[in-house]
Amino acid sequence: MKDGVFPILFVLIFIKTFDFGLLLRIFDYKFILMISEKIATLINEQIAHEQYAAQYYLSMSAWFSGKDLDGIANYFRVQSKEELMHADKMFDFLNDVGGEIIIGEIAKPPHEFENAIDIFEKALEHEKKVTRSIFNIVKNANDEGDFATTSFLQWFINEQVEEEASASQLVTKIKMVSDNPSALYLFDQELAQRVFTPDPTA
Ligand code: FEO
Repeated sequence: MKDGVFPILFVLIFIKTFDFGLLLRIFDYKFILMISEKIATLINEQIAHEQYAAQYYLSMSAWFSGKDLDGIANYFRVQSKEELMHADKMFDFLNDVGGEIIIGEIAKPPHEFENAIDIFEKALEHEKKVTRSIFNIVKNANDEGDFATTSFLQWFINEQVEEEASASQLVTKIKMVSDNPSALYLFDQELAQRVFTPDPTA
């Protein structure tokens, strides 16, 4: 038998007998440790909440477009894009930590509103709901000692503080201007300035 035959035989026997399934299980185990099924489910649900918020704000934008208040419509259109960016960030995080991404069902948002004040109040109410939902994930992640998730969600906690403050301020402003066409015109012009800025880390 020639010298080179033994190494080849050795490699063939190794491939035939090696438990690649075990290797995959060990590899997988490393990732499973990064996130529990429970936290992955909560994040998947949050992705759906963010996508629903995008639809909800788009519906609000459509209402203002129908009233020729294009500046306010722009504000909600940008808000809708931000919500999709939030969903994308969560999608990428879940993928990075080895969680299974399951895209949920998105309900149809309302399209009828009483008036402009009603819309801004509903937007604020919705942001508060999102904040509670994110806090709930953080609480569960804390209980599990899931530092990757708590660290990741810190960005969202800060974002919610800003979003609630801004939504609350807009409720106050729309109440001041809604019965005054000149003031409403200026308010509309102000909100026309908002532009969508993609998050550099997304
Ligand atoms: Fe993604 Fe407005 O919360």
